[in-house]
Amino acid sequence: MKYDFDAIYDRGNTDSLKWRLRAEHCGSEDVIPLWVADMDFACPPEVAEAVQARAAHPIYGYPLRSEGYYRSVIGWMRRRNGWEIEKEWICYTPGIVPGMNFAVQACTSPGDKVVIQPPVYHPFTSAALNNGRQLVENPLVIENGRYVMDFAGLERVIDDRTKAIILSSPHNPVGRVWERAELERLTEICARRGLVIICDEIHSDLILDGPRHTCLASISKEAADITITLSAPNKTFNIAGLTMGNAIISNEKLRKAFSQAVESSGIGVSNVFGNVALEAAYDRGEPWLEEMLEYLRGNYRLLAEAIAAKLPELKLCPLEGTYLAWIDFRALGMDDAELARFLTRDAKVWLDEGTKFGNGGSGFMRMNLACPRAYIAEALDRIEKAIAARR
Ligand SMILES: Cc1ncc(COP(=O)(O)O)c(C=O)c1O
Repeated sequence: MKYDFDAIYDRGNTDSLKWRLRAEHCGSEDVIPLWVADMDFACPPEVAEAVQARAAHPIYGYPLRSEGYYRSVIGWMRRRNGWEIEKEWICYTPGIVPGMNFAVQACTSPGDKVVIQPPVYHPFTSAALNNGRQLVENPLVIENGRYVMDFAGLERVIDDRTKAIILSSPHNPVGRVWERAELERLTEICARRGLVIICDEIHSDLILDGPRHTCLASISKEAADITITLSAPNKTFNIAGLTMGNAIISNEKLRKAFSQAVESSGIGVSNVFGNVALEAAYDRGEPWLEEMLEYLRGNYRLLAEAIAAKLPELKLCPLEGTYLAWIDFRALGMDDAELARFLTRDAKVWLDEGTKFGNGGSGFMRMNLACPRAYIAEALDRIEKAIAARR
């Protein structure tokens, strides 16, 4: 391996959200934080060097996005996803969560209904509610041990006020990489019933197993016409703190409405460092990404083997995409508050509570696997000992 994913970095003095909140949330600093989707890997050196080179010039005034920036995004989509996009389709957003809010503003009106499919990344809920839209839930269902979309349920919850659905593709937290056939069925329903699909593809480069990621808008002209794709290198290369993103929208009317929402929020200028980081990551980050994915697969294997051999009470959902494992702790027989306390206070491991992701999350925990393997090994050891002490 060219890159060292076992390297331990002390993030103590970096005001990292993931690390700094330990004492406040868990009552102790002696807790392994495996919660928020933030890696403990150094980003590709190619990216750090590009940011440092730009930082060496001491004027950080308003930037434009360069031609190279657009070429990088277009090239990435072509190489990684087989999706041909045009420069004009790429709209600025200072991040994917802001982009989701702009998209809701762009394609719905106050009082309209927005569908989400929980358990799902919690800002989907706030993107609807904070903008005065009604939230409609169409929970995922488990079929043969695998989460799937409930298409019949979706047909049932749509009425005249339902204008959009927000999709996590791949799905955080259940780890599904949606298959083309599933996306086609979703598109058919949304096109027929007049819904825009706000398709959050931030995890699309993080495919561990299962089908290749399909960009929903690449499926057909019909799909492209009703889709706002949200895309960023933020998760892929661990550069979320550089706050950037792209909304890729081929439908001109939707694109104008999206850009209008961005403009009326007063946000128009991109981030000097975000721009150079994106270009370096997409142009030179692929070897790092391939190695990182192999390392992640190793972490996931370690988790799966430990659960099979030593933690029979836990049940692991197959992880196809994202670096976030979704684990069923219900057999321990604890309520959610008890389970959270047990993990943070007894086991001293901080996982994301399933209830954070809404309906269907009770009894589950989400574990972030994007860290040196030693953290995962130690966390599993701690959980095993804490459970053994209760048996
Ligand atoms: C599905 C999903 N969308 C968006 C984000 C955050 O994106 P950003 O930091 O660009 O707002 C995350 C972060 O975990 C996520 O999991």
